[in-house]
Parts: sequence; structure tokens; C-alpha cells
Amino acid sequence: MRFHYVCSDCGREFMTEELMYQCPDCSKDNDGSSFPKGNLIVELDNEVLREAAAKEHVTPNDFYPYPSDDESIFPVGVTPLMKPERIAERLGLSGLRFKLDSQLISGSFKDRASYEVALQAKALGEKKIVLASTGNAGAAMSAVGAAMGLDIILFVPATAPINKLMQSVLYGAHVVPVKGTYDDAFALSIKYSEMFGGINRNTAYNPMTIEGKKSISIELFEQMGRKAPDAVYVPVGDGCIIAGVAKGFSDLMKAGLIDRMPKFIAAQSESSDAISRAIRNDDFSPVRATTRADSISVDLPANGRMAASYVKKSGGWSVTVSDQKILDTQLVLASESGVLAEPAAATAFAALEADRDHLISELGKDASVVVLLTGTGFKDMKVFDNRVSLPEPIENSVEAIKNLHF
Ligand SMILES: Cc1ncc(COP(=O)(O)O)c(C=O)c1O
Repeated sequence: MRFHYVCSDCGREFMTEELMYQCPDCSKDNDGSSFPKGNLIVELDNEVLREAAAKEHVTPNDFYPYPSDDESIFPVGVTPLMKPERIAERLGLSGLRFKLDSQLISGSFKDRASYEVALQAKALGEKKIVLASTGNAGAAMSAVGAAMGLDIILFVPATAPINKLMQSVLYGAHVVPVKGTYDDAFALSIKYSEMFGGINRNTAYNPMTIEGKKSISIELFEQMGRKAPDAVYVPVGDGCIIAGVAKGFSDLMKAGLIDRMPKFIAAQSESSDAISRAIRNDDFSPVRATTRADSISVDLPANGRMAASYVKKSGGWSVTVSDQKILDTQLVLASESGVLAEPAAATAFAALEADRDHLISELGKDASVVVLLTGTGFKDMKVFDNRVSLPEPIENSVEAIKNLHF
């Protein structure tokens, strides 16, 4: 056996590699009144970890429950680790780095989870994948589906940014816009897969999403000279990315490749702060999310309990910022680093800026700090309406350029 499942709430072990979503005991009382219970964690067999530890260099494939036999069919990573020199100097943080997951094939971090779920489908002989998404996960799953010949059925809030929906249509998915929130789309997609079959890829509901997302930590470990960073700032909605990042470092620890975990810092909008409330006050009740950062707009985080637990265990914390700060930060990132990030991704850096003094007091000025820039801004240029405008055109004449003084 390459892996088995463990319930993240009661610790019950399930010695199977069959398709499983949640612990039947812990999930039976999930009724939407508090963060769902019973999400599963994949435990890799010790032999898998021993083999990885013996290698001179590791790749995510060494740690996947469903490894790929040909990663060139849909390459995921290695995404660049950027030193944002001007910003690092301004903030006095010499060890600041940006991980540019906007450069993945579909333009967001979500390729990571989608790829591992596609490998799960392939291994289990399944062709149909059903999911709900705020936009990026759907686009990513649709892109992988196009590359690997899978049928994708995608439930999304009808208000998701148009480019994310168009992307999914172009990749050939069956797109079902829902007149409701992301949480509504989530519930409908689970009903659909219960009624019509297929693998459900919903974030954290399918434990393989966390396994795919952990790939970023394996990459970071190699990119940073086989070390873990001191802290990672992660934009958080459902809490699956941050759990994936933590799981990756946890696997590296179990393999004996690192001897301490980074601190995980959950970055959220003040207008969608359910997981921050859980981290700070053990409050697991839903919120009414209204943030413009659509990818992290979540009422009832699907992986809230696990995310809060990983953050606390690491000695990390949460930072919330206003939507205005998030939108302003998009412009700062673009003009000071050349990275155009979508609002959710900009939230991670907005949180770091807001948290700078506290971070330095905790870890010092030379700490190695990674900010995950999880999605490209090109998918949602509408967010710049009334904030940035193009200059008026000039006449095609030398006379006209004489009046330009830059
Ligand atoms: C670009 C981007 N950043 C961050 C997130 C948040 O991830 P999670 O919902 O797993 O917390 C998402 C989720 O859709 C996303 O698309």
C-alpha cells in the first residue's frame, strides 16, 4: 500500500486506497451551522518516505499518493521563486521571496490539486470529475481535463470573473453557473456527484486536493537549498491551500528532510475572515463573506478546522486586511515588482505588509519569508475599472511628443 487515510478530527484510520471523501462518523452531523468535520488526511507509507529521503533531489511526484508516470502531459511547476528586490529593500526584509504560481498553465495555484485529482481518476479508471469552484479551481480542472481527456462538470457562482468562466468553457468543461454563492455551488456539486457519479474534486472534501497542493512545499524545499523557509504567507478562503502547504512540509519532516516546520500565516480579507476567527477565538461558525477578492470569498470554509489547526500548531497566526488595502496592494505589486496578481493573491502580500513589524519582532529582519502569489491578475482586469485608465492617444506627430515630459 502506498497510502491510507486518517480522519483529521477523530484520528480514525482507514486502511484503504479506495475513493474516500470524509470520515463517516465525524461528517454525519455536518449541517452548515459550523465548519465541517471529518476531512481526511492522506498518510503515505513509511517506505515511500524512506525512498524519497534517500534521493539527492526530491520532486512532488515522490510524495504523491497517485504519482504520474509522465509529468510532461500536464507540467505542474516548478514555479519561479522571485526575489522582489525593491519591495524587500523598502520593507527591510532581506529574505523576502514571492512564489509565482500565477505562472502555472491555467494561471493559478489550482493546477496543483487538479493534476493530482486527475491522476486519482486515471488510477481508479474514472472519466468524470465534478466540482464547485470560485473560478480558478474550475479553470484548472478544466485545463487538466482537456490535456488528459476527462469530462469536467463545473458548478460556479454566476458572478465569478468572466475570464475564469470563459477559460473553463474554452477548455471544454460543462460549465454550470449557479445563481447563488460559492457555498451554494459547493453543495449542489456534491448532490450532483451523489446522483450521477464521477469523482468529486471539491476542495478538501476530496483529500487528494490537499495532496496536490502540497507539491508547492516540496518545490520550495529544493529551491531554498533543501531547507524550509521561516514563514509562509498564504491567501486563505476554504483553507485547503494552507493545509496543503503544511502537509507538504509535514511529509518532509516525516521523511527526515527538515527538522522544523515554517510558521504558516493565514491572510484573509476582513470581509471573509471565518478561518481567522477560528485561529484567534476557536470560533467555527460561518460568516457572511462579501469580499471583492472573489477566490477567497467563503462563508463556511470547507477545510477550516484543519487549516486553523495547522496554523496554530506551527506557531503561526492570521492577518486580516481591508478590501481597500487588497486593491491598493495589487497596484503596489504591479508597479514595484512587475507581478500582476489577482485580488486573492495580493491579499497574501497585503497581509505581510500590514504584519511587517510583528513579523520582524517574531522572526527578525533576516527571516526567510515566502509569499504565495497564487493567481494572475490577467483573469480579472475588471477589478481595475475606475482605478486605472489608459492615457488619451496623441496625434501621430513629432510636435505632439514635444509636450511629453516624463
Ligand atoms: C488565487 C487563489 N488564491 C487563494 C485561494 C484560496 O485557497 P483556499 O480556498 O484553499 O483557502 C484560491 C482559491 O480559490 C485562489 O484561487
